[in-house]
Amino acid sequence: MPTSHFSSFVDIPVPSLPFLFSQRATWLYTTAALVGALLVLEQSIYRYKKKHLPGAAWTIPIIGKFADSMKPTMENYMAQWNSGELSAVSVFNIFIVMASSNHYSRKILNTPTHAEPCLVNSAKHILMPDNWVFLTGKEHIEYRRILNTLFTKKALSIYIGVQDAITRKHFRQWLADAAKDPSPKPIMMTARNLNMDASVRVFCGNHIPESGVVEISEKYWDITQALQLVNFPFAFPGTNVYKAIQARKAAFKWLEMAAAKAKIAIASGAQPHCMLDEWVQVLQDPTYKGRKDFSDREMAMVVFSFLFASQDAMSSGLIYGFQHLSDHPEILAKIREEQYRVRGNDINKPITLEMLESMPYLKAFVKESLRVKPPVTMVPYRATKPFPLSDNYTAPAGSMVIPSFYNSLHDPEVFPDHDSLTPERWLDPNSPANANPKNYLVFGSGPHRCIGIEYATMNMALVLATASILMDWEHHQTAESDKVEIIATLFPKDGCQLKFTPRPRPQSA
Ligand code: HEM
Repeated sequence: MPTSHFSSFVDIPVPSLPFLFSQRATWLYTTAALVGALLVLEQSIYRYKKKHLPGAAWTIPIIGKFADSMKPTMENYMAQWNSGELSAVSVFNIFIVMASSNHYSRKILNTPTHAEPCLVNSAKHILMPDNWVFLTGKEHIEYRRILNTLFTKKALSIYIGVQDAITRKHFRQWLADAAKDPSPKPIMMTARNLNMDASVRVFCGNHIPESGVVEISEKYWDITQALQLVNFPFAFPGTNVYKAIQARKAAFKWLEMAAAKAKIAIASGAQPHCMLDEWVQVLQDPTYKGRKDFSDREMAMVVFSFLFASQDAMSSGLIYGFQHLSDHPEILAKIREEQYRVRGNDINKPITLEMLESMPYLKAFVKESLRVKPPVTMVPYRATKPFPLSDNYTAPAGSMVIPSFYNSLHDPEVFPDHDSLTPERWLDPNSPANANPKNYLVFGSGPHRCIGIEYATMNMALVLATASILMDWEHHQTAESDKVEIIATLFPKDGCQLKFTPRPRPQSA
């Protein structure tokens, strides 16, 4: 290079005006360099954590797979699950390891020393940070031991009577509404309201007036909206989380009052007729050795956690139950045959726990319907320390580890013809389904396994069985009926449009 030419170039006098400009340029270059370095660092950290796991080689800067998580689809989830038994993804720099196989999903659920449930960000705002659901380890085990006493056979036999009465009340209303307007209607909201009414009455009995149940039911939709995986993180007025907090406050007013009333009722010698009564009675039992000092607020928080954990999943299960029965008339016919037989054709007889025990086909149907369309497809956990998931992969501390259930529940080895709805697979004690109970992850596994399994399956069985003898229903199939909408849990995209008519009584009744 001719040095003379070069030196003459640098000798050119610098005009004074660009001084400011050059300062700004320096600032811009520095900022750009810094941002560039951060972006490179982001990619490097992602790739370092991901190691050899399947998943995008690069993460979208800053937001990662945020767009996908805003509008989750079964297709995207399935692509991720099928990409490997363990795979990686990043959303807003949260590093996530998805487990799709039975082995790895169960490992996450059953290793409390390395991972604990990580509810969506909004949950702490809505449920309140001192709610029992955020407990872990020994404290959690002890609290759950107390709560298990609310789901004994004795307790369930109180609840089933309440559920039966509420269900029949709602069906009368469904039929009255259908008589006024016989066009098919989505059952998204009607089924939710039935569940909410039944649950509030099972948990709180008549300690809450009708207006309170209606208020809790109506406001509850705001809570569901705030349960989405991704929500605006701050509770500013107008946001979903803010609305959910207002809904919780309204519900709490009623639930605390119900706890106080249950204490008074049992102290005055009344027999338990709801969960809160049962709880107070258990605490007073001289043989009960656990903690006794539960405040009204604490009891309200537990009931609220049950509503929170149950409402969506149970509604999803029930709606798919109705859809599956209308799309499989041969299965519905078998359920009806069993109902008339066990009830001796008396359709007004309230169902009891003993009667349910004599309805194996109904129970098999509920189990199978939940398998084919599991309401909860995955549960987010967080690695509390480096978590050696496999021989050659350790999830870094702080990363999200998400066990997913769909592949376990649709494993063709365990469930031949896995997409077909076949209740019979549960009736054969030697079937691969019964031989592999570890695959049935509908309610999770390990220390945080769903506490409401018996209550939820009893409710679904009762509602569908009672519907089958009191009503006929036709499914208005649309292009969206078989498509899945994910609103925290799974729903048919068109809301399952049904047309109800009263069913004639059986001949000998
Ligand atoms: C079809 C209905 C339901 C389904 C599919 C379902 C599913 C689940 C699943 C997958 C989990 C997480 C389990 C884990 O992490 O291993 C869970 C937890 C839980 N469920 Fe359910 N659930 C249902 C109904 C209910 C009902 C009716 C109640 C209350 C009465 C309830 C209360 C809870 C609670 C409190 C937890 C957290 C337990 C803990 O952390 O110890 N669920 N449920």
